[in-house]
Amino acid sequence: MRASLGTVSVISACLFSTSALANSSGITGQSGKNGSTCNTCHMGGTAPTVEISGPTTLEPNATGQYTLIIKGGAANVGGMNIAVDNAAAVLQAGEGSQKMGSELTHNGMKSFTNGELRFDFSLVAPASGSVKLFAAGNSANKNYAETGDRGSTTTLNVTVSGGTAPTEPDEDKGGCSATGGSPMLVFALAAATLTRLRRRQG
Ligand code: HEC
Repeated sequence: MRASLGTVSVISACLFSTSALANSSGITGQSGKNGSTCNTCHMGGTAPTVEISGPTTLEPNATGQYTLIIKGGAANVGGMNIAVDNAAAVLQAGEGSQKMGSELTHNGMKSFTNGELRFDFSLVAPASGSVKLFAAGNSANKNYAETGDRGSTTTLNVTVSGGTAPTEPDEDKGGCSATGGSPMLVFALAAATLTRLRRRQG
Protein backbone atom coordinates (compact mmCIF):
# COMPACT_ATOMS: atom_id res chain seq x y z
CA MET A 1 0.00 0.00 0.00
CA ARG A 2 2.77 2.38 0.97
CA ALA A 3 4.77 1.56 -2.16
CA SER A 4 1.79 2.10 -4.43
CA LEU A 5 0.96 5.43 -2.78
CA GLY A 6 4.56 6.48 -3.34
CA THR A 7 4.30 5.52 -6.99
CA VAL A 8 1.11 7.52 -7.34
CA SER A 9 2.71 10.64 -5.92
CA VAL A 10 5.74 10.30 -8.17
CA ILE A 11 3.43 9.92 -11.16
CA SER A 12 1.28 12.90 -10.18
CA ALA A 13 4.38 15.00 -9.54
CA CYS A 14 5.45 14.24 -13.11
CA LEU A 15 2.01 15.06 -14.44
CA PHE A 16 1.95 18.30 -12.48
CA SER A 17 4.99 19.54 -14.36
CA THR A 18 2.98 19.28 -17.58
CA SER A 19 -0.33 20.29 -16.02
CA ALA A 20 -1.41 22.37 -19.01
CA LEU A 21 -1.82 19.08 -20.88
CA ALA A 22 -3.28 17.14 -17.97
CA ASN A 23 -6.79 15.84 -18.43
CA SER A 24 -8.43 12.79 -16.91
CA SER A 25 -5.67 12.75 -14.29
CA GLY A 26 -6.38 16.27 -13.03
CA ILE A 27 -6.03 19.84 -14.21
CA THR A 28 -5.78 23.32 -12.63
CA GLY A 29 -6.34 26.85 -13.88
CA GLN A 30 -9.75 25.83 -15.33
CA SER A 31 -12.09 26.70 -12.44
CA GLY A 32 -13.41 29.80 -14.21
CA LYS A 33 -11.50 32.06 -11.79
CA ASN A 34 -9.35 33.47 -14.58
CA GLY A 35 -11.84 32.92 -17.40
CA SER A 36 -10.62 29.51 -18.57
CA THR A 37 -12.81 26.43 -18.01
CA CYS A 38 -12.89 22.74 -18.99
CA ASN A 39 -14.68 23.83 -22.18
CA THR A 40 -11.45 25.35 -23.45
CA CYS A 41 -10.78 21.77 -24.64
CA HIS A 42 -13.91 19.70 -23.97
CA MET A 43 -16.70 20.10 -26.51
CA GLY A 44 -19.81 18.60 -28.02
CA GLY A 45 -21.56 17.33 -24.91
CA THR A 46 -24.50 18.67 -22.93
CA ALA A 47 -23.73 21.06 -20.07
CA PRO A 48 -24.29 19.63 -16.58
CA THR A 49 -25.48 21.64 -13.58
CA VAL A 50 -22.72 22.33 -11.08
CA GLU A 51 -23.33 23.43 -7.51
CA ILE A 52 -21.23 23.97 -4.37
CA SER A 53 -23.06 22.98 -1.21
CA GLY A 54 -21.76 24.14 2.18
CA PRO A 55 -21.69 26.99 4.71
CA THR A 56 -21.61 30.59 3.42
CA THR A 57 -20.28 31.85 6.76
CA LEU A 58 -17.26 30.50 8.64
CA GLU A 59 -15.69 31.61 11.90
CA PRO A 60 -12.11 32.92 11.66
CA ASN A 61 -9.66 30.09 10.86
CA ALA A 62 -12.48 27.50 11.02
CA THR A 63 -12.66 24.53 8.63
CA GLY A 64 -15.88 24.15 6.61
CA GLN A 65 -17.04 21.01 4.80
CA TYR A 66 -18.20 21.48 1.20
CA THR A 67 -19.44 19.29 -1.64
CA LEU A 68 -19.22 19.97 -5.35
CA ILE A 69 -22.21 18.34 -7.06
CA ILE A 70 -22.21 17.70 -10.81
CA LYS A 71 -25.54 16.57 -12.33
CA GLY A 72 -26.57 15.68 -15.87
CA GLY A 73 -24.75 15.95 -19.18
CA ALA A 74 -23.02 12.85 -20.59
CA ALA A 75 -22.83 11.70 -16.93
CA ASN A 76 -20.53 8.72 -17.46
CA VAL A 77 -17.31 9.99 -15.89
CA GLY A 78 -16.22 13.42 -14.71
CA GLY A 79 -13.78 15.60 -12.92
CA MET A 80 -13.42 19.06 -11.43
CA ASN A 81 -11.21 22.01 -10.54
CA ILE A 82 -11.71 24.29 -7.51
CA ALA A 83 -9.87 27.53 -6.67
CA VAL A 84 -10.20 30.43 -4.21
CA ASP A 85 -9.61 34.18 -4.63
CA ASN A 86 -8.02 34.65 -1.20
CA ALA A 87 -4.40 33.51 -0.69
CA ALA A 88 -4.98 33.21 3.08
CA ALA A 89 -7.75 30.59 2.57
CA VAL A 90 -6.70 26.94 2.27
CA LEU A 91 -8.43 24.24 0.22
CA GLN A 92 -8.11 20.62 1.39
CA ALA A 93 -8.74 17.67 -0.91
CA GLY A 94 -11.32 15.03 -0.05
CA GLU A 95 -11.87 11.58 -1.54
CA GLY A 96 -11.31 11.47 -5.31
CA SER A 97 -9.42 14.72 -5.45
CA GLN A 98 -5.90 16.04 -4.97
CA LYS A 99 -4.23 19.36 -4.31
CA MET A 100 -2.13 20.88 -7.08
CA GLY A 101 -0.55 24.19 -6.15
CA SER A 102 -3.29 26.00 -4.19
CA GLU A 103 -6.14 24.37 -6.19
CA LEU A 104 -8.05 21.08 -6.08
CA THR A 105 -8.71 18.73 -8.99
CA HIS A 106 -9.84 15.13 -9.57
CA ASN A 107 -7.14 12.44 -9.13
CA GLY A 108 -8.42 10.30 -12.01
CA MET A 109 -11.74 10.28 -13.88
CA LYS A 110 -14.62 9.52 -11.51
CA SER A 111 -17.81 7.61 -12.35
CA PHE A 112 -21.25 9.17 -12.03
CA THR A 113 -23.87 7.40 -9.86
CA ASN A 114 -27.51 7.95 -10.83
CA GLY A 115 -26.58 10.89 -13.04
CA GLU A 116 -24.65 12.58 -10.24
CA LEU A 117 -21.01 12.99 -9.23
CA ARG A 118 -19.93 14.47 -5.88
CA PHE A 119 -16.59 15.70 -4.59
CA ASP A 120 -16.21 16.48 -0.88
CA PHE A 121 -13.58 19.02 0.13
CA SER A 122 -12.74 21.41 2.97
CA LEU A 123 -12.01 25.10 3.17
CA VAL A 124 -9.95 26.56 6.01
CA ALA A 125 -11.08 30.16 6.48
CA PRO A 126 -8.63 33.03 6.84
CA ALA A 127 -8.60 35.18 10.03
CA SER A 128 -10.93 37.75 8.45
CA GLY A 129 -12.47 38.94 5.22
CA SER A 130 -14.22 36.74 2.69
CA VAL A 131 -13.43 33.94 0.25
CA LYS A 132 -14.91 33.31 -3.17
CA LEU A 133 -14.87 29.67 -4.27
CA PHE A 134 -14.67 28.99 -8.02
CA ALA A 135 -15.53 25.51 -9.28
CA ALA A 136 -15.75 23.80 -12.66
CA GLY A 137 -17.25 20.34 -13.11
CA ASN A 138 -17.02 18.28 -16.29
CA SER A 139 -19.56 15.68 -17.37
CA ALA A 140 -17.85 13.31 -19.82
CA ASN A 141 -18.69 10.24 -21.93
CA LYS A 142 -15.52 8.23 -21.24
CA ASN A 143 -14.32 8.04 -24.84
CA TYR A 144 -10.82 9.04 -23.69
CA ALA A 145 -11.00 12.24 -25.72
CA GLU A 146 -12.32 15.78 -25.21
CA THR A 147 -15.32 15.15 -27.45
CA GLY A 148 -18.90 14.56 -26.27
CA ASP A 149 -18.08 16.17 -22.89
CA ARG A 150 -19.05 19.50 -21.39
CA GLY A 151 -18.30 21.39 -18.19
CA SER A 152 -20.09 24.10 -16.22
CA THR A 153 -18.88 26.49 -13.55
CA THR A 154 -20.23 27.92 -10.33
CA THR A 155 -19.07 30.14 -7.45
CA LEU A 156 -19.85 30.47 -3.74
CA ASN A 157 -19.09 33.44 -1.49
CA VAL A 158 -18.00 32.63 2.05
CA THR A 159 -17.92 35.38 4.67
CA VAL A 160 -15.63 35.08 7.68
CA SER A 161 -17.34 36.33 10.82
CA GLY A 162 -18.13 35.57 14.46
CA GLY A 163 -15.95 33.42 16.67
CA THR A 164 -13.76 34.36 19.61
CA ALA A 165 -10.81 35.86 17.74
CA PRO A 166 -9.87 39.34 18.99
CA THR A 167 -11.76 42.00 17.08
CA GLU A 168 -10.26 45.12 15.57
CA PRO A 169 -12.46 47.72 17.36
CA ASP A 170 -10.88 46.66 20.70
CA GLU A 171 -7.41 47.30 19.34
CA ASP A 172 -8.57 50.65 17.99
CA LYS A 173 -9.95 51.70 21.37
CA GLY A 174 -6.65 50.86 23.05
CA GLY A 175 -4.81 52.88 20.44
CA CYS A 176 -7.06 55.89 20.89
CA SER A 177 -6.91 56.07 24.69
CA ALA A 178 -3.13 55.59 24.61
CA THR A 179 -2.55 58.53 22.30
CA GLY A 180 -5.49 60.68 23.45
CA GLY A 181 -5.09 59.89 27.16
CA SER A 182 -1.63 61.15 28.03
CA PRO A 183 -1.93 64.71 26.64
CA MET A 184 -5.21 65.04 28.55
CA LEU A 185 -3.48 63.92 31.75
CA VAL A 186 -0.59 66.37 31.23
CA PHE A 187 -3.11 69.17 30.64
CA ALA A 188 -5.08 68.29 33.80
CA LEU A 189 -1.91 68.22 35.93
CA ALA A 190 -0.77 71.55 34.52
CA ALA A 191 -4.18 73.10 35.24
CA ALA A 192 -4.15 71.77 38.81
CA THR A 193 -0.64 73.16 39.41
CA LEU A 194 -1.67 76.58 38.05
CA THR A 195 -4.72 76.67 40.29
CA ARG A 196 -2.62 75.79 43.33
CA LEU A 197 -0.04 78.47 42.44
CA ARG A 198 -2.75 81.12 41.99
CA ARG A 199 -4.32 80.24 45.34
CA ARG A 200 -0.93 80.58 47.07
CA GLN A 201 -0.37 83.96 45.45
CA GLY A 202 -3.81 85.22 46.35
C1 HEC B 1 -5.92 21.76 -22.17
C2 HEC B 1 -7.06 20.98 -22.62
C3 HEC B 1 -7.96 20.41 -21.56
C4 HEC B 1 -8.62 21.10 -20.58
C5 HEC B 1 -8.64 22.59 -20.31
C6 HEC B 1 -9.38 20.11 -19.84
N1 HEC B 1 -9.16 18.86 -20.34
FE1 HEC B 1 -10.01 17.16 -19.70
N2 HEC B 1 -9.17 16.14 -21.23
C7 HEC B 1 -8.28 16.67 -22.15
C8 HEC B 1 -7.85 15.61 -23.05
C9 HEC B 1 -6.84 15.77 -24.19
C10 HEC B 1 -8.55 14.43 -22.66
C11 HEC B 1 -8.48 13.04 -23.29
C12 HEC B 1 -7.34 12.24 -22.75
C13 HEC B 1 -7.67 11.70 -21.37
O1 HEC B 1 -8.70 11.05 -21.21
O2 HEC B 1 -6.87 11.91 -20.46
C14 HEC B 1 -9.35 14.81 -21.52
C15 HEC B 1 -10.16 13.94 -20.82
C16 HEC B 1 -10.82 14.23 -19.66
C17 HEC B 1 -11.64 13.29 -18.94
C18 HEC B 1 -11.98 11.89 -19.42
C19 HEC B 1 -13.08 12.13 -20.45
C20 HEC B 1 -13.54 10.98 -21.29
O3 HEC B 1 -14.66 11.08 -21.85
O4 HEC B 1 -12.83 9.97 -21.45
C21 HEC B 1 -12.10 13.94 -17.84
C22 HEC B 1 -13.00 13.41 -16.74
C23 HEC B 1 -11.59 15.28 -17.88
N3 HEC B 1 -10.81 15.42 -19.00
C24 HEC B 1 -11.87 16.27 -16.97
C25 HEC B 1 -11.56 17.61 -17.15
C26 HEC B 1 -12.03 18.66 -16.27
C27 HEC B 1 -12.86 18.47 -15.03
C28 HEC B 1 -11.58 19.83 -16.78
C29 HEC B 1 -11.80 21.22 -16.24
C30 HEC B 1 -11.61 21.42 -14.80
C31 HEC B 1 -10.79 19.49 -17.97
N4 HEC B 1 -10.82 18.15 -18.15
C32 HEC B 1 -10.17 20.43 -18.75
C33 HEC B 1 -7.86 17.98 -22.21
C34 HEC B 1 -8.31 19.00 -21.40
